[in-house]
Amino acid sequence: MVVCGLVKDPIDKLLDDAASGKSLFKNREVLHFTFMPDLVLHRDDEQKKVTQSLIPLLKRARPSNLLIYGKPGTGKTLVVKKVLGKIQERVKDGSFPIQLLYANAKEETTLYGLLVKFGRQLGLASQKELPTTGLSISEVFNRLIAAIEKNTLNTVFVVDEIDYLAELVSKTGKDVFYSLTRANERLKKGSLTLIGISNDLTFKERLDPRVLSSLSEEEIVFTNYTVNQIKEILTERIKEAFIPNVVDQAALNLCAAMSGQEHGDARRAIDLLRVAGEIAEREQADMVKEDHIRRASLKMEEDKETTALNSYPLHEKLLILAVMKANGSTTGEIYQSYKNLCKTTRQKELTQRRVTQMLSEIEMTGLISGKIIHQGMHGRTKKFALTLNPETVKKAFKEDLVLEDLL
Ligand SMILES: Nc1ncnc2c1ncn2[C@@H]1O[C@H](COP(=O)(O)OP(=O)(O)OP(=O)(O)O)[C@@H](O)[C@H]1O
Ligand SMILES: [Mg+2]
Repeated sequence: MVVCGLVKDPIDKLLDDAASGKSLFKNREVLHFTFMPDLVLHRDDEQKKVTQSLIPLLKRARPSNLLIYGKPGTGKTLVVKKVLGKIQERVKDGSFPIQLLYANAKEETTLYGLLVKFGRQLGLASQKELPTTGLSISEVFNRLIAAIEKNTLNTVFVVDEIDYLAELVSKTGKDVFYSLTRANERLKKGSLTLIGISNDLTFKERLDPRVLSSLSEEEIVFTNYTVNQIKEILTERIKEAFIPNVVDQAALNLCAAMSGQEHGDARRAIDLLRVAGEIAEREQADMVKEDHIRRASLKMEEDKETTALNSYPLHEKLLILAVMKANGSTTGEIYQSYKNLCKTTRQKELTQRRVTQMLSEIEMTGLISGKIIHQGMHGRTKKFALTLNPETVKKAFKEDLVLEDLL
């Protein structure tokens, strides 16, 4: 028999534990991706190069356009923001007006939006000065130019994740990319320098040669961090994020190794540590151990897969389920399985040709894998299998009302 009062209510237990301060974190904000650490390790050379390329500003001359690239999580955004911050601080009360502007193309859905972001930073604050919709791109552009000329500003436009800009730039806007890199030539007063940052190493090859030649007047490449460098970056972050001595040395080593060996990606390392810390804390563990890192890695992988799965339209989802149900089958058999699922969910089936094409598209993302099978005189066919855990698929698709009953 359970005596009332002896068994703690689960909500109370959690709240009590939280109130009694049994937390492993001192300041978890420090592990958030927007946090700017004071200490930037192993990037002296890159910080110097970025600063050097902007030094003409202090001498009242226009810096060259600059293209910065390197793999994800190699400190590009951090270094550029740091340098901009320092320069802006110095010229705050100078007589020579310098304006450093930053926008991330990945965060914008349109080119218009990106230009408005810059416009606002240039002081075009009101809707009248720069409305959020309605103008032509070239008119928005003219207003930016006019704002620079009006105050004879010396500006630096940083377009982070500039490869996304290429996607925002539709056919009509194609010239804008060109205009942006050559904007300085249009200015009668003031100056404009463009800094593009990209982690897509193929980005350069895809650029129009004219755009490339003006964007990459200068170039800086960020190399991947080594496992040891990641370890030192993590060690600094741990000091600020966790209470002393709660991250096991072996856990730190594993975290650095997992993110360093494969990608040299500091963001992934920091994320992994944060998730591991949260798992450990939820379990009321006294320390973050290797096992927490391993489980954090699995969880992050699964979250990534879930997001990918959820982002598919309905028929792709049905097809993934068909592959799951007829795992390792030929295209023809999977098509049958797909047709059955369409019947059950009362959806109009797509043609086999379209479905075959969709299979190839999904295969490219790695969620399913295909293998060509030679059948002698019967030619060849392709067999498909799911590469993920079926449970992950079920969990992800349960949220889709049409698929709910199938699962
Ligand atoms: N040298 C470093 N010292 C301390 N922290 C670092 C260092 N390099 C990167 N970080 C941290 O790692 C994370 C990723 O860095 P950052 O955002 O600068 O990468 P990035 O190169 O811009 O990546 P992406 O191409 O994906 O945008 C950030 O949280 C940043 O604070
Ligand atoms: Mg970045």
